[in-house]
Amino acid sequence: MKVRDCVRSPMLEGSAKVLLLGSGELGKEIAIEAQRLGAEVIAVDRYDWAPAMHVAHRRYVVDMMNPRAVKSVVRRENPDAVIPEIEAISTDALEELEAEGYFVVPNARAVKIAMNRLELRRFAAADLGLPTTKFAFAENPEEAFEACEKVGYPCLIKPEMSSSGHGHIRLDSSSRDAAARAYAYAVSHSRGRSKRVIVEEFVDLALEFTVIAYRYPEGDRVATEVCEPIEQWRYGEYHYIESWQPPKSDPAVLSRAVEIGRRVAEGLGGTGIYASEVFLTKDGRVLFSEVAPRSHDTGLVTLVTQELSEFAVHARTALGLPVPRPRVVSPGASMAIYTDLGDVWSPGVCGLQEVLRIPGVDVRIFGKPWAYPGRRMAVLLARGSSVDDALEKVRRAAKLISFRPA
Ligand SMILES: Nc1ncnc2c1ncn2[C@@H]1O[C@H](COP(=O)(O)OP(=O)(O)O)[C@@H](O)[C@H]1O
Ligand SMILES: [Mg+2]
Repeated sequence: MKVRDCVRSPMLEGSAKVLLLGSGELGKEIAIEAQRLGAEVIAVDRYDWAPAMHVAHRRYVVDMMNPRAVKSVVRRENPDAVIPEIEAISTDALEELEAEGYFVVPNARAVKIAMNRLELRRFAAADLGLPTTKFAFAENPEEAFEACEKVGYPCLIKPEMSSSGHGHIRLDSSSRDAAARAYAYAVSHSRGRSKRVIVEEFVDLALEFTVIAYRYPEGDRVATEVCEPIEQWRYGEYHYIESWQPPKSDPAVLSRAVEIGRRVAEGLGGTGIYASEVFLTKDGRVLFSEVAPRSHDTGLVTLVTQELSEFAVHARTALGLPVPRPRVVSPGASMAIYTDLGDVWSPGVCGLQEVLRIPGVDVRIFGKPWAYPGRRMAVLLARGSSVDDALEKVRRAAKLISFRPA
């Protein structure tokens, strides 16, 4: 990656170019931040008019699991930075591109480890010695049963590769048949053809943290900084619902979470941003769960809380610019808004007359061209006099949002 002192005009010779592989709502904010820094932005996704495409200079619709398609777009555009924005990307293509000299943010190895639950556990638990939930791996129904017995009940079976909770299944008691069925279910939801699963102890959560850490060039070394942890609550769902900053937890717990975030970022290396998901259990354990080598959905709250949002941090690290640690300048909260509409084109996100009348409340509408049940369409953001005040505002605003078919 190159350290940059000048930025030339976009669309002209010598422009600073970033290419997003994945153009969702997080990519849209990264694209906006990169544009603010004068960069040229190229948005790639598997469907047209994905959120970041609306704010990019150019767009491509390709299958990002296809290595030839990914390599072809990157070589054609020759960007200064390739930003993987989602997990489902051909990592072989990223490794090859990196070997050719392209800068993959934060690096291809980190992307590969983070998307694979087995490799990630080996890295975090065995190499770094971080505390995690108890776990075991399995590659057939019999091993799955043994893994459940070893880990204990309740336990959670997850495919080797998946995201957004796909293929997760909980087992509450010892049963060879139930373990075999759970194994088959998890494998059938795996990305790719993997037959491997992880079995994890199912812990009683008190809270979840997202710890944003990032690395940027500082003289002849790479500095690692960690933001104030974001706290989040999912109400028992796999996807994110509410997040807030500054954190309310005990300082001793927070410093353990920060330490985990720092060690993961330093262990995976490169230049860019890492979002570690950390559990606080009801019995007081602070456990590393997983890491995204990219911006995180719960980090949307940083748009209203931090001096530099996680997206600004991401864009700066990609462009080789300095990133002093952003302070939290206001208590704030976010709430993700999911639609219950069926397959609908051009869905209406409604209720804005009332929502935007609440002082301190803002909304980001992602502009996705169609809705399906459970699709995230927008996020509500609020600043408040305290986190509780901000949370009260987003909860009130969420009740006022509705969706209308075209
Ligand atoms: N071992 C566990 N015990 C309790 N809850 C869990 C466990 N693993 C995951 N969860 C819950 O499920 C959510 C999604 O799990 P995660 O492993 O992060 O999957 P994904 O990669 O799909 O995001 C977590 O944020 C947490 O709320
Ligand atoms: Mg997760």
